[in-house]
Amino acid sequence: MDLKKTKLILQDKTSIELNIIKGTLGQNVIDIRNLSSKGLLTFDPGFNSTASCESKITFIDGDKGTLLYRGFPIDQLASKSNYLEVCYILLNGDVPTKKQFEKFHKIVTRHTMIHEQITRLFHGFRRDSHPMAVMCGVTGALAAFYHDSLDVNIKRHREIAAFRLLSKMPTVAAMCYKYSIGQPFIYPRNDLSYAGNFLHMMFATPCEKYKVNAILESAMDRILILHADHEQNASTSTVRTAGSSGANPFACIAAGIASLWGPAHGGANEACLNMLEEINTVDHIPEFINRAKDKNDSFRLMGFGHRLYKNYDPRAKVMRETCHAVLNTLCMKDNLLEVAIALENIALNDPYFVERKLYPNVDFYSGIILKAMGIPSSMFTVIFAMARTVGWIAHWKEMHDDTMKIARPRQLYTGYDKRKFISKLID
Ligand code: SDX
Repeated sequence: MDLKKTKLILQDKTSIELNIIKGTLGQNVIDIRNLSSKGLLTFDPGFNSTASCESKITFIDGDKGTLLYRGFPIDQLASKSNYLEVCYILLNGDVPTKKQFEKFHKIVTRHTMIHEQITRLFHGFRRDSHPMAVMCGVTGALAAFYHDSLDVNIKRHREIAAFRLLSKMPTVAAMCYKYSIGQPFIYPRNDLSYAGNFLHMMFATPCEKYKVNAILESAMDRILILHADHEQNASTSTVRTAGSSGANPFACIAAGIASLWGPAHGGANEACLNMLEEINTVDHIPEFINRAKDKNDSFRLMGFGHRLYKNYDPRAKVMRETCHAVLNTLCMKDNLLEVAIALENIALNDPYFVERKLYPNVDFYSGIILKAMGIPSSMFTVIFAMARTVGWIAHWKEMHDDTMKIARPRQLYTGYDKRKFISKLID
């Protein structure tokens, strides 16, 4: 990185020299690490202008609609790779040789079972619990079963925990679904692909043979690739913050799941499908567009807008193509797709959305595909969490491989000045 400098001129005419650091791609950053020693802090709620770390994993250019995993464009990975190869790339930094991939694939495949005692944990939840609540609880509880890989200071422990999480999240996710519908858990099968195994654990029953549909398997694999990582989003920043205290990997990933659940973040796919169902027909769209524009109405167009993308989310483009392909191949018509396409066209020609550069994001079309696969909307964010686990782990490992400092942001204090305490409880 070639350094340049800038000067911060203060009110008393003194100045502070700050280094400007240039990365491989994207905006330069002003290094403000020494600012607090000069008695100054920066103020940036929501971190819109703050780089919280240095990373080599994923790059996003929101203006151009670019998304690179370790330098590889998302559309190329979505069309030419598979989710486990993308996991290898995110975790190791480059494409695997055939031999490296076979070894990686074998380790992941052979660790998909979970400790049998964990199945009892599920029975402590109500059957009608939201699957995300169950997934969050069970993932955090994995630390109570896998004691032999909790010392985050030991690289081998970090590797073992990473493989356990990558291998077991589809099993936990499918168990959340089976538990919610009162069906028996289905064990993983080592002869199936990552996506195929997940569909098998979701939809197979002990009563008859279940054949994985190749179209749905490839669509699911692509959905997993599109959701695998997205640099310092809210849930990944949560995982990094939790990890910075030295918390164990299962606790950190559970924290990421909790953050992802929010409707402004990963919960938007479920909220978007519910919104499309509420709109239901194209002629209802204007009413919802007006509500989205009304400052007195908290309603937002779910699946629209993004902190970084001020252009089309490249994942939404691939998702829309996959949506058409799945529905056409399954000879399925879903009026929600018509509503979504009409909504997109209307919004993208409405000055409110155009001026604010609000485009469909990854969550806009994903729900329609998942619904076509027979997956209930309550499971959409569970699948997002399952796919994003590899990204969370990659950032968690990168943080540990780097010199790590505990995340401890400061604040702008606008509360009371020091004052004398006099209780009102004493007459
Ligand atoms: C994900 O960060 C990531 O990378 C996340 C993610 C990942 O892969 O990890 O990409 C996954 O979370 C995608 C986003 C999913 N969320 C939604 O679809 C929920 C709906 N979208 C919005 O809530 C919103 O767009 C956010 C939260 C996504 C982004 O919010 P910002 O960047 O804080 O933008 P903002 O709230 O400051 O909005 C700017 C303006 C405001 O209007 P004004 O005050 O300027 O008049 O745009 C408006 C907002 O009211 N606006 C919307 C809108 N999104 C923004 N108005 C209507 N509908 C929307 N969806």
